[in-house]
Amino acid sequence: MCLRSKPVSRERCVFSTTVRKCGVLAATNCNLAGVSRDNPSVKNIVILISGAGSNMAAIVEAAYQQRWRERFEIQIAAVISNKAHAAGLAWLLSHSEFADIPTQVLEHTQFESREDFDQALLKRIDVHAPNLVVLAGFMRILTPAFVAHYSGRLINIHPSLLPAFTGLNTHQRAIDAGCQFAGATVHQVTPELDHGQILAQAVVPVLASDTAEDLAARVLTQEHLIYPEAVLDFFRLQEASRPAK
Ligand code: GRF
Repeated sequence: MCLRSKPVSRERCVFSTTVRKCGVLAATNCNLAGVSRDNPSVKNIVILISGAGSNMAAIVEAAYQQRWRERFEIQIAAVISNKAHAAGLAWLLSHSEFADIPTQVLEHTQFESREDFDQALLKRIDVHAPNLVVLAGFMRILTPAFVAHYSGRLINIHPSLLPAFTGLNTHQRAIDAGCQFAGATVHQVTPELDHGQILAQAVVPVLASDTAEDLAARVLTQEHLIYPEAVLDFFRLQEASRPAK
């Protein structure tokens, strides 16, 4: 059950291993010119991933199918991964309909400190003048300076019903605690891990036979529904709170 949006069936993302000519490893050099900035009223979203990227895919597909750019002047300005081999990058690069979305790789292993990486990442993100930075399975703890820089425009999805089960291994911990329900939360990112304002939640049942993997898969189907909706809501709320001219 999804609390914020009507549950609708959505095919699960199938990840293709086909990679466009430029390839994942060369992704840093692909499409770096970025999306056209001709229209300054277009609002930019930068998505950060580390792995499968199925939440990124859900947002990218929603933006495409619902024509966010034409209808709401919102566009996915870039997808950045801290891992060159993130499956999400391969998925994106293999879909020609998303060819206009620039992709970039910035490997955290290339930096001596967390601070150095975050500052470099921040510079890469800011090239795209983001109105919103979306963490979608971005498996990095962010420095306070990074979080402060994007204060109010940095969101994350966490696979539990926050404030319960912050941190890792959420599904096993929910099962071990005897929870009858689990879920996912979209929230603002603040310096304290998984503690920012809750923007959307989805609830699923925990079944007696569930393994952590079963539960994770059930939760993930709901993540794919609430995250795109929460991203749109973020902009709708901004629009609604703008003073009338
Ligand atoms: C999701 O369960 C998300 O809640 C958590 O990491 C997982 C990422 O999955 N932050 P994906 O990379 O979006 O497929």
